Amino acid sequence: MVGFKGKAFYVRSVFDRISSRYDLMNKVMSLGFDGVWRRKAAQLCGVSSGGLCLDVCTGSGMLALELAKLVRPGGRVYALDFSPRMLSTAYSRISKTPYSGLVELVEGDALNLPFKDSVFDCTTAAFCLRNVEDLKVALREMVRVTKQGGRVVVLDLSKPSNKVYRKLNEIYLKAVVPVLGKIIVGESDPYAYMHSSLIKFPVKRELAEIMSRAGLDGIKYYEFNLEMISIHVGVKKI
Ligand SMILES: C[S@@+](CC[C@H](N)C(=O)[O-])C[C@H]1O[C@@H](n2cnc3c(N)ncnc32)[C@H](O)[C@@H]1O
Repeated sequence: MVGFKGKAFYVRSVFDRISSRYDLMNKVMSLGFDGVWRRKAAQLCGVSSGGLCLDVCTGSGMLALELAKLVRPGGRVYALDFSPRMLSTAYSRISKTPYSGLVELVEGDALNLPFKDSVFDCTTAAFCLRNVEDLKVALREMVRVTKQGGRVVVLDLSKPSNKVYRKLNEIYLKAVVPVLGKIIVGESDPYAYMHSSLIKFPVKRELAEIMSRAGLDGIKYYEFNLEMISIHVGVKKI
């Protein structure tokens, strides 16, 4: 795929570079919690056997795999990303599992999804809406491809309201995570970017309001690990 410019070009090349160490780094910096958050996000999609799901910005496919466990038998999960190397990592992971026949990997852009309107029972995005060029467009696209009454689920970093947690979060993201990135992945910049991207990212009610304006109802959010992580869930308006 060609034609990415600006932030998208930068983000795509970063993920292409760090793909082989991405999962290990996730495990270490989340202290092993990342699997728990993705499992929870999948459960909040409200899908079951036969369901049709889309995971945008799937990366190494971990959330897509959690969704596949819920929709079998008879369901299907489309897992989309614009980084060919992240998709190769996803392929290596998923092809070794019993769910490989259920997951279809798609190279594509979250801002211009290659799917018709109102086809998916749920659409998810984990740890990626901070990285896209235009959050509102990404959410509108997720809503567009979701069926009326289907859910859109967003898992991402958050900003604790509690002052002590907020300070801890800041120290962890600014001082610890970039060092871990240097040791584990060989690069600190992409991990220093986590903190700077979070500063500009709307969280809690602000994100809920943007989701509502994108066409979702009944938005709820759940927070985990000292409010450092959140899952927002909304239902496409009927
Ligand atoms: C931090 S990773 C998250 C991956 C995965 N969702 C997870 O839970 O680990 C962000 C992913 O979003 C992808 N991405 C960022 N912007 C994108 C866009 N506009 N279209 C498609 N993929 C995008 C990157 O290539 C990367 O794989």
